Amino acid sequence: MSIRETYLPFGAPNYSEAEIEAVTRIMRSGWLGLGQETLSFEAELAAALGVDEIVAVNSCTSALFLALRESGVRSGDDVIVPSLTWCSSANVALYLDARPVFCDVDSDTFSMSVETVLASLTSRTRAVVVVHYGGLAVDVQALRRALPERVAIIEDAAHALGARYPDGSVVGSSGNLTCFSFYANKNLATGEGGAIALGDPTLANRLRSLRMHGMDSSAWSRYVKPSTIGPGVIAELGFKMNYSDLQAAIGRVQLQRFPEMQAHRQALAERYQQRLQAELPWLKMQEGCFTPMHAKHLLVGRFDPEKTGMQRDDLLKALRLRNVGASIHYAPLHNMPLYAEYKPPVLPVTERLAPQILTLPIGAKLEVADVDYVCEQLLEILKEVR
Ligand SMILES: Cc1ncc(COP(=O)(O)O)c(C=O)c1O
Repeated sequence: MSIRETYLPFGAPNYSEAEIEAVTRIMRSGWLGLGQETLSFEAELAAALGVDEIVAVNSCTSALFLALRESGVRSGDDVIVPSLTWCSSANVALYLDARPVFCDVDSDTFSMSVETVLASLTSRTRAVVVVHYGGLAVDVQALRRALPERVAIIEDAAHALGARYPDGSVVGSSGNLTCFSFYANKNLATGEGGAIALGDPTLANRLRSLRMHGMDSSAWSRYVKPSTIGPGVIAELGFKMNYSDLQAAIGRVQLQRFPEMQAHRQALAERYQQRLQAELPWLKMQEGCFTPMHAKHLLVGRFDPEKTGMQRDDLLKALRLRNVGASIHYAPLHNMPLYAEYKPPVLPVTERLAPQILTLPIGAKLEVADVDYVCEQLLEILKEVR
């Protein structure tokens, strides 16, 4: 099969004319900051997830930071986090001068589990950052039952908008502070952005103040009520972590299109399943990745060199040379220089998986023909080495 002329990127966003029109509408309105569009996006996302409150912020990293801080994580506390994740999940503990405690993952789900979290529990554990890796939800209800009450559960659902917990309920509706990302490659993409889903309206209002310098009122509320004289009152140190109406305009359209985009991801995943399971029966994909419970942000498989006859990095290079934007999620954090001080003695499953995992391209912009192309190239490369 000939090599395609254009590079097939991993996770390109899917925008229609409606997103472009929405952005234009906001630009013409004269108000680009946090205003009515953001409030509408928050309300619509809350309704879609069936949660009481959504607080939109400028990134999932900010959402995780605020969530950990408001859960009472302080200097010297231990915060359990998987090593197989994006750096944000651990860095937010460091921002609070807390200690990331890296836990292992399960060899089938590639995710943290009740067992791996409990194995990392210490007397100083104050919180767990639960990462729903790739879009597969961790059983947070079981985790809650297993953990001491003093340990807060913060959900890192950057990959998991649209995913469901094992009991069938929607990720975000657990009652834990659950953090989403709307970064450019996410299932709902607004360039940058994030949100915290929660059930407590008092805490939600506090988070709304903290995202805007700790002020008691927003610039928007003063803009729409010109009788309000002077700036808002600042009673405590807050942050500049607000979302904006430009992003919210994209987000509202993406939210309307979300069921259709998720159904498309599902169809692409099923195509991968059809093509790969027959030809590569040894290939271990992340458990559950073909089911509708999984958000399918990432489609991760384990390419064991004993089965493929080649190292994962050589396979990745070969795919890239054929214009396939396969990728790696992730290089384990505990081996990075920044976290040397927090390196656990051993994380056997993470160490074994890390050099073998490969992320296949999936996204709302891909076509079924793109998946066919990826599968054919993959099979051809593997056939050449064997
Ligand atoms: C697991 C995980 N957590 C957190 C983040 C941070 O998201 P953001 O870029 O919105 O800060 C990401 C980003 O990709 C992620 O993959």
